[in-house]
Amino acid sequence: MTPTRSFLITTAPGLEPVVRKELDDLGVDANVTDAGLTTKLPLADGAALAARLRTAAHVLLRVADGRVANLDELARLVRTTQWGELLDPRARVDVDAVLHGRLAGRRDIVAKKVENALKDALRGKPRALKEWPKLEQRLLVRVDGDTVQLSLEVGGEPLYKRGWRPAGGMAPLREHIAASMLVAAGYDGDEPLVDPMCGSGTIVIEAARIAAGLPPGTRRYAYEEWPALATARPRPPTPSGASPFLLGADRDEAPLGHAKENAGRARVRVAWLHTDVDALELPAGPGLIATNPPWGGRLGGDVEGAYHRLARLLERSPGWRMIFLCPDASRARLVSKRATRLTSFRAGTIEVGMWAIDR
Ligand SMILES: C[S@@+](CC[C@H](N)C(=O)[O-])C[C@H]1O[C@@H](n2cnc3c(N)ncnc32)[C@H](O)[C@@H]1O
Repeated sequence: MTPTRSFLITTAPGLEPVVRKELDDLGVDANVTDAGLTTKLPLADGAALAARLRTAAHVLLRVADGRVANLDELARLVRTTQWGELLDPRARVDVDAVLHGRLAGRRDIVAKKVENALKDALRGKPRALKEWPKLEQRLLVRVDGDTVQLSLEVGGEPLYKRGWRPAGGMAPLREHIAASMLVAAGYDGDEPLVDPMCGSGTIVIEAARIAAGLPPGTRRYAYEEWPALATARPRPPTPSGASPFLLGADRDEAPLGHAKENAGRARVRVAWLHTDVDALELPAGPGLIATNPPWGGRLGGDVEGAYHRLARLLERSPGWRMIFLCPDASRARLVSKRATRLTSFRAGTIEVGMWAIDR
C-alpha cells in the first residue's frame, strides 16, 4: 500500500464546511479541526489538491513535528528531517515562523536558524531536478511552547492567487471565497449564472472555469518541483466545448475593463455588460444570480439602495435563485424576507454572511 502523509487545508474561518463539501465531491475524507481540515493521502494525491481545490486558501504538507527545548534542538530537527523527496538542493526556500510561548516575538531569529539548518540538510545531495528550480518553496515553522511543526506550502503562493489576475491587481473578493459561494450554492457549471455587480469579475470567472471543466488556476504550483513528483506533472485538461449563459454586469466601467482582461487571461468566454442593475433584464430562468454587493465602509455610496435593486431584479426574474454576501442580516433581508444564511466567515475584522434565496 502507498504510504500516506498528513495534509492541512485552510480557508477563511467559517468556510471549512464548504471546503469539506468540495473534498467530498473529490472523494477525499477530511476532518474539520480548529486549524482547518486535515486529511491523510499519498504524497502525489495530497499535493495535487493544491491544483484542484477551488475553495482552499492553503494546502500544507506536514513534514516533521517534535518537541524541542531550544533553538539548537529546533535546528537539529530540521537537519535530521528527510527532505530529499521534497526539496531540490538548489530550491529557493522562504521560511516563515508562527510562534507562541517562549519564542514569540523572535520570528526573524527562528526563521534564520531554520534556514541555515536547512542549507546544511540539503548540502551535498545529488541534483534531483533536470532543470534549475524556478518556483519558490515556502516552509512554515509553527512553535507552540516546546511543540514544533514543520510544514511545506504545497502550492507555494496562496491558492487564491490563480495566475489570471495581474500581480498587484485589485481583488475586492478573494478567488477562493468566490468559489466557495458557488460550491455552497451547488453550482454545477450547467446553470446560467449572472453577477449583476461583478466588479473585476471574480465570481463569473470562477464559474466559467467550473463550467469549462478547467482547474482553478492557470499557474504552476511549488509541488511540481518536488523531486518525488517532478516527473508526474499533470497534463492540463482540455476545456469542454459547451458553455452556459454567463454574464457579468456593473454600472462602473473601470472594473469591467479589468474583468474583461482577467477573463482573457483565464481563457474563459463570458458576456460583460455596462449597466445599472435596474436596467438589467435576465432571460427566462432557471439560473443563479451570484453577487457581492457593496458592504459600505471604504466604498461608501448608497449601500441600501444596492440591496433594494437586487430585490427588484429577483422579483422580475422568475426562475432565478440567488447567493450573495452581506455582513448585515437586516440588509440581507432587504433583498428578500426568504433570504437564509448558509454560513458566515471572517474577512479581516468583519463577520460576513453567505445568503441564499431559492427560486
Ligand atoms: C464589492 S464590489 C464587487 C467586487 C467583485 N465581486 C470583484 O470580484 O471585483 C461591488 C460592485 O457593485 C457595483 N455596483 C454598485 N451598485 C450598482 C448598481 N446599482 N448597478 C450595478 N453595479 C453596481 C460597484 O460598481 C462595484 O463594482
